[in-house]
Amino acid sequence: MARHLITSALPYINGIKHLGNMVGSMLPADVYSRYLRQRGHEVLYICATDEHGTPAELAAKAAGQSVEQFCAEQHDAQKAIYDGFALSFDYFGRSSSQQNREITQEFARELKANGFIEERAIRQVYSVADGRFLPDRYIEGTCPHCGYDKARGDQCENCTRLLDPTDLINPRSAVSGSTELEVRETTHLFLLQSKLADEVEAWIEEHGKDWPTLASSIARKWLTEGLNDRAITRDLDWGVPVPADVWPELAAQGKVFYVWFDAPIEYIGATKEWSDADPARRDWKSWWYEATDVRYTEFMAKDNVPFHTVMFPATQLGTRAPWKKVDYVKAFNWLNYYGGKFSTSQKHGIFTDAALELLPADYWRYFLMANAPESDDTSFSWELFATTVNKDLADTLGNFVNRVLSFSLKRFGDTVPAGAEPGEAEAALGTEVAALIAEYQAQLDSLQFRKAAQALRALWSAGNVYLETKAPWLQIKTDEAGAALTLRTAMQLIHLYGVLSAPFIPATSAAMRAVFASSEAGEPGWVSEEQATALDFVAAGTSFTVPPVLFAKITEDDLAAWRERFGAQ
Ligand code: 2FM
Ligand code: ZN
Repeated sequence: MARHLITSALPYINGIKHLGNMVGSMLPADVYSRYLRQRGHEVLYICATDEHGTPAELAAKAAGQSVEQFCAEQHDAQKAIYDGFALSFDYFGRSSSQQNREITQEFARELKANGFIEERAIRQVYSVADGRFLPDRYIEGTCPHCGYDKARGDQCENCTRLLDPTDLINPRSAVSGSTELEVRETTHLFLLQSKLADEVEAWIEEHGKDWPTLASSIARKWLTEGLNDRAITRDLDWGVPVPADVWPELAAQGKVFYVWFDAPIEYIGATKEWSDADPARRDWKSWWYEATDVRYTEFMAKDNVPFHTVMFPATQLGTRAPWKKVDYVKAFNWLNYYGGKFSTSQKHGIFTDAALELLPADYWRYFLMANAPESDDTSFSWELFATTVNKDLADTLGNFVNRVLSFSLKRFGDTVPAGAEPGEAEAALGTEVAALIAEYQAQLDSLQFRKAAQALRALWSAGNVYLETKAPWLQIKTDEAGAALTLRTAMQLIHLYGVLSAPFIPATSAAMRAVFASSEAGEPGWVSEEQATALDFVAAGTSFTVPPVLFAKITEDDLAAWRERFGAQ
């Protein structure tokens, strides 16, 4: 059996993430990891905060903190929210770790030794007042095409034309507003991606065949447009320093690696952080180096695809060392919020911390995965959210569980009732359930999360149909043993739902399993086809308790308040 290495794109450190970030990387990676663990696979799910780069420096400055302090606090703040969402990372690291620094520097040494890094002098804008070189997007001025006065050095967001900082009229620093700008020469390291283009193309041809179209088409588009050599260093105070043993002069000038050079390497770095945190753990290298028994799946939104399918593989190939490369790239489209993208900079949409203030994680986890932007962009609306929660979670699942248990408690006491032997209806239900589980598994195996959520919902519905058909509240008037059988069978489903729903709604699933005194504590295993068909999990006579309502309905008043608070139009 393969070992599964799973990573989700590293959330950037500069602020709390929104639901669009969550559904496009961490949440599906978590659902998949939980599923594989339940199936008995060895899984290592790694994520981390992506901490370097100019946005982190500027966010720290705006918060009046040192960048070290800012990143440490923001890492903990993000980690607390992800715990709240029940994300089951094996490790949630930090790209500013010592481990990542060492591995990133080692990558650079190897790339240099193999002739894939060279020094080049370039001319860049320097802000005298800020004492730093400015990346293009931190130079502002008036657009020469449309006259917009807040155009950025890389692009005018008003007329969308691409710009060069030297095109701007009245250029100024976006950091301080200073107009004291000069063009200075500075030397940077360039990764010679052009020399690796053929190899990357051949690698994608061979390994990208099974990737979903969204990932493979973006990868091919980038290759067709040509793989250019790329500056992989920056003049910043914060980042992985250029190793002084290879580039003493650049190191003395304080050059650091560009954030997109060290960020994907942090997948490896964080695995070493995980391994270093406990000597009992299997060596990190066995997951990444000559790891022929490992299947590696990456999760990310579509804007990250070029870095993961082209640039990081190019970096890995250029080391000429047997680093584990991605086997499957699961990419997502955008989740929109009322006509626009969820946006951190514009504060548009719902942020993960605010979501957890409103409702427990399972509501969001199920809603987001059932509406995941897999084949297309999807739109969040409060109406869709309320309909999904009220219909699927409150009515179909929650109400089933409470109805069955409360009624049985009232008529038969607090143990699973014995009653009649299973008959035709139970046999048909078992066959149907087994077929739906097979469908659910097949969708999860192929990482089709919306379809998997549909199959799960169909399993919940099958219980409702069975209950409505048998109607134990009528049966009991004439056939007590038959009513007991119906309730006992429905209770088998409650246990089964507690097992099968765990990847999507882990807390509620644990509550469903805890209904029965016989259930084992801890993470559940999976069910075999025979067990599913037989519907025989909880024996008659087992004590049970009726849990509090599993999902509260969302009311019109809730909706009105949330629309108002989050600006829904
Ligand atoms: O897009 C982002 O938010 C990046 N921080 C993702 C990095 S993924 C990885 F390569 F580190
Ligand atoms: Zn313009």
